[in-house]
Amino acid sequence: MKKKHRDNGYSITACVYRIFLIMRRRHHLFHFLYAFSCCLLLLFLTFSLFSSPPPVTNHHYLMSKKAVTANSIPDTTTAFRVPENEESKGHDIWSSRLSKFYYGCSNASSSFQTADVKTHHNRYLMIATSGGLNQQRTGITDAVVAAYILNATLVVPMLDQKSFWKDTSDFSEIFNVDWFISFLSKDVKIVKRLPMKLGKIVTPYYMRVPRKCTPKCYQNRVLPVFSKKHAIQLGKFDYRLSNRLDMDLQKLRCRVNYHALKFTDSILDMGKKLVERMRMKSNHFIALHLRFEADMLAFSGCYYGGGEKERIELSVIRKRWSTLHQKNPDKERRQGRCLLTPEEVGLMLRALGFGRDIHIYVASGEVYGGEETLKPLKALFPNLHSKETLASQEELAPFSLFSSRMAALDFIVCDESDVFVANNNGNMARILAGRRRYFGHKPTIKPNAKKLYKLFLNRNNMTWEEFASKVRTHQIGFMGEPNEVKPGRGEFHENPSSCICEDSKAMAGGDSTPHNDMHEVQVENNKRNVADEILTVDDHDQDLTTMDYVENGIGTQGKEDLYKSSLTKTDQPELDEWFSD
Ligand SMILES: *[C@@H]1O[C@H](CO)[C@@H](O)[C@H](O)[C@H]1NC(C)=O
Ligand SMILES: *[C@@H]1O[C@H](CO)[C@@H](O)[C@H](O)[C@H]1NC(C)=O
Ligand SMILES: *[C@@H]1O[C@H](CO)[C@@H](O)[C@H](O)[C@H]1NC(C)=O
Repeated sequence: MKKKHRDNGYSITACVYRIFLIMRRRHHLFHFLYAFSCCLLLLFLTFSLFSSPPPVTNHHYLMSKKAVTANSIPDTTTAFRVPENEESKGHDIWSSRLSKFYYGCSNASSSFQTADVKTHHNRYLMIATSGGLNQQRTGITDAVVAAYILNATLVVPMLDQKSFWKDTSDFSEIFNVDWFISFLSKDVKIVKRLPMKLGKIVTPYYMRVPRKCTPKCYQNRVLPVFSKKHAIQLGKFDYRLSNRLDMDLQKLRCRVNYHALKFTDSILDMGKKLVERMRMKSNHFIALHLRFEADMLAFSGCYYGGGEKERIELSVIRKRWSTLHQKNPDKERRQGRCLLTPEEVGLMLRALGFGRDIHIYVASGEVYGGEETLKPLKALFPNLHSKETLASQEELAPFSLFSSRMAALDFIVCDESDVFVANNNGNMARILAGRRRYFGHKPTIKPNAKKLYKLFLNRNNMTWEEFASKVRTHQIGFMGEPNEVKPGRGEFHENPSSCICEDSKAMAGGDSTPHNDMHEVQVENNKRNVADEILTVDDHDQDLTTMDYVENGIGTQGKEDLYKSSLTKTDQPELDEWFSD
């Protein structure tokens, strides 16, 4: 494509030169004809140039004008022009092709023991979650499974009220606690508080388990304590249960996460209102979870094009974390660990065929650089909405002072959206990705940052068509289609493969009425991999962005060391916990 443009340029010059020559020596009929056709061509080219739409501003980087660096001077000869009025492409961008062959399945097998036969009457397990709403959600999910493993009664989890997000809400102000207890009653006995003993609440024994503790690890470390104490509290309960568990325990995780954890009615009602208001604007909409707060950017160690100003501001923030080691911004970017900028997300979406007419719900905190940062995204998608633009202050008042309730509203809209995209790989993005797989593989776009970064960097020396086609290629396997990730690989909350079943009947091309007289076939056992070639396109690393979650970075430590250090350390928030959402 680029070559063609060059050729055109070349032929125009050649043509003009020819005409010039021929004007002087017009006695050769052949030359005259040649000149004539050249003129026609020239006229045609001129016409087509003028008729092509004006380019969208060529922002190379997003921040203030001052910040423009040497390599970002707009190149007027660039062929990279985002089509101005492109509408959404005809092919179905709103649904996943293979989704009808799969469904979420989390019922227990017949060998799964129920709570009434196994719960030990004198074992109470308490946990304290940590992090933002979604990290806490993983903790709650795992706590139910831990209680099951230990044959213990679970006390309704205490939410983290001290994290970065500082929300004083308790469990029952976020989740429907009665539903939680009753839905899981067959699996685990759950009580609202510890029982009284001689008029006093039993004091629990406080301890921690290592990260990714296996069922055996729970039995070895926690069970012996239950022989002396009736109540145990596990502190800082996040990612404390192994990613890999047997099928029935994984399914229990799914029952908790996808069925038992329901938001309170007031949160659900407000969420529903927001969704309805989006649907009033257009039939389909995209939800974008955008994390671009100054802290996040600073923590990532990446450079986002804001020049000296950004470098200084972010390095000041970085000083807050004494243990944060220096990172090489270019290396981070190459490894796909940098957050996509709002503009980059916009370009990716346009390249994937989403037109300028589409409405986007943006779930975000305070964006670094504010409106200025969002401007390029707005140029690509003028119809941006948020809770604040869809609802009045009065409507949001019961939620706005509570970060977890606000996060819950965003969660609902993102969950209901036709297409969900995140510029980060945080807890919310991963949990929603898993949930959307479970409930019918609704399209969920995970930017393939490792591959896309080069395109963003070099976009000024390629045409839009070239760019868009490359984006589409790189995004194969990152669109939320079934079987994108090999079963068992990846983080369970993002890829709950044990809870996805294949509809063998629909697969065989028979009656497509789903879930009817269906033979449950585990994807795990499925030899036929619909997207086998897709799987090999890229190694599906767990972490796409800078958000190195808890389990990373401790890999070199032995389990024993870890256990000791976690026991002796005070309950100080850890680095990543600052913003784990
Ligand atoms: C799972 O269990 C529920 C409730 O017992 C039942 O209604 C549903 O049909 C079951 N689903 C499957 C796929 O067996
Ligand atoms: C839990 O109870 C079941 C059934 O009584 C028993 O087989 C299992 O060993 C118990 N596990 C623990 C950790 O107590
Ligand atoms: C664009 O330019 C960069 C740097 O000059 C070069 O490395 C890259 O290969 C070019 N890309 C294309 C598509 O020509």
